[in-house]
Amino acid sequence: MSSTSREFEKRRTFAIISHPDAGKTTLTEKLLLYGGAIHQAGSVKSRKAKRSATSDWMALEKQRGISVTSSVLQFEYDSIRWNLLDTPGHNDFSEDTYRTLTAADCAIMILDAAKGVEPQTRKLFRVCRMRGIPIVTFINKLDRPARDSFDLLSQVEDVLGIQSFPYTWPIGSGDLFQGVYERSSKRVLRFEKGEAGNSSKAEAVEVDLDSDALNELLGEDAADTLRGEVELLDGAGEEWDEERFLKGELSPVFFGSALNSFGIEPFLDRFKNLCPIPLPRKTADGTELEPGSDRFSAFIFKIQANMDPSHRDRIAFARICSGSFEGGMRVHHFRMGKSIRLNRAEQFFAQDRETVMEAYAGDILGLYDPGIFRIGDTLSSGGPLLFDAVPRFSPEHFGRIQLLDPLKRKQLQKGIQQLAEEGTVQLFTEPGREKDPICGVVGKLQFEVLTYRVQHEYGAKISFDILPFKYARWLEGPETPEEALAQRIPIAVHDRDKKIVGLFRDDWEVERAVRDVPDWTFHETSPIRAGEG
Ligand code: G4P
Repeated sequence: MSSTSREFEKRRTFAIISHPDAGKTTLTEKLLLYGGAIHQAGSVKSRKAKRSATSDWMALEKQRGISVTSSVLQFEYDSIRWNLLDTPGHNDFSEDTYRTLTAADCAIMILDAAKGVEPQTRKLFRVCRMRGIPIVTFINKLDRPARDSFDLLSQVEDVLGIQSFPYTWPIGSGDLFQGVYERSSKRVLRFEKGEAGNSSKAEAVEVDLDSDALNELLGEDAADTLRGEVELLDGAGEEWDEERFLKGELSPVFFGSALNSFGIEPFLDRFKNLCPIPLPRKTADGTELEPGSDRFSAFIFKIQANMDPSHRDRIAFARICSGSFEGGMRVHHFRMGKSIRLNRAEQFFAQDRETVMEAYAGDILGLYDPGIFRIGDTLSSGGPLLFDAVPRFSPEHFGRIQLLDPLKRKQLQKGIQQLAEEGTVQLFTEPGREKDPICGVVGKLQFEVLTYRVQHEYGAKISFDILPFKYARWLEGPETPEEALAQRIPIAVHDRDKKIVGLFRDDWEVERAVRDVPDWTFHETSPIRAGEG
């Protein structure tokens, strides 16, 4: 292996998953702060504010004060290049959020200590589980009254079905929060409430759990509680098992308060060893491509349109899987079956984006896209290569498009076609009603985004008739939608690849169908092969 190809060993590519308000922005900011990528707390927020003020290509962002798109942040810490895939942190997210996880090697799951596992965490978590990527848990906001820590862990185990291994353990919460106990080093890290946003280090005290010193440090009651809880963990808790962690079956858990910068250091120190280096990637023919291979390869996992309204440009985000990238290099574009030059590639630093001249497995490239990329495309040096497909996830909201100006049908078709290519929306057609396609989205907000974009970018005014469905299942079994309808599937449609899809109103309807037609398979996702995007 050449020295350049070992560069991948210095890469860590991860994402943060959480329910809105659990503290993702705050933790991201603290990671960047400790990683030295920013120098002042509040920068990420101001980046958010700045972005929503400048990216007025979508006034929605501004109106709602949220960021509709997601991007990549990069920082150096401890001689490692960290690539943090940023997933939108608002209530309504898109399929992008899910797909971004296909490019990550590890995920941090943040839970609010008062709320535990919330709906959005659950959804994102399922995507991580599907890929089997390792998950590290950070339980946040211990400076506020929290739920019992054992209850939180059992909830993680019951609801998410993953075992947990607490690396640190909280000492009280809310006004009684005194810090955390680090089990491996047997140290108490004392919490001292500072100004919100300060990043001073916590005092670490090495102390024997059975000693009087612990009583003096914490007070007798808190010391006794800690002793009892640690004994319980040591006795009845899970053992640490790296292999199970890497398979996504066991999650190390850390407690802290992102806002107070407390618990970040032990977390980051440990995380840098836990987060795996880029792993081999499966190709469509079932073999694996090693990240250290000399052969460059990457796949497109996300396309972001119109980042700059004055240029109407698109950026295709590519995750490098092997080899090294050099600005201007020629690669094979599998779907188009031809060689292209990668001229304008960008990387995204904490606060800026800049042209990149070299990058390695694990890194994310933002490629200028004049309309040649689709989700799932594979790029490679040394001839054709195709990676295993990127999944298309079941939408959770469905609406039938109503064209308000019938003369603009062409514009509408062009618009939704392109938005479907970007992966913003999934299109379905019902036999006999081909002129009124059904749009499926993961977050309801996407309907507003679509209405806005189809009007402003393509000149067609539309609205949506919201349909009462919640799930799409790709059906393996029936040959035609009619066959599916005959089995009491509420509505059967075609997706863009002419695959048959059943739409369902609730869990009960899905379960009934699965029971009624045991010979059929009901897939929750559908692979996007290059060219099908
Ligand atoms: P998100 O990106 O996951 O949506 O969450 P974000 O970091 O924006 O945090 C949501 C709210 O929770 C923010 O308060 C933030 O300050 C607060 N928060 C984050 N970590 C902690 C913590 O450890 N302890 C406490 N007590 N609060 C925390 P906000 O009032 O909504 O926003 P802001 O006015 O602080 O910006």
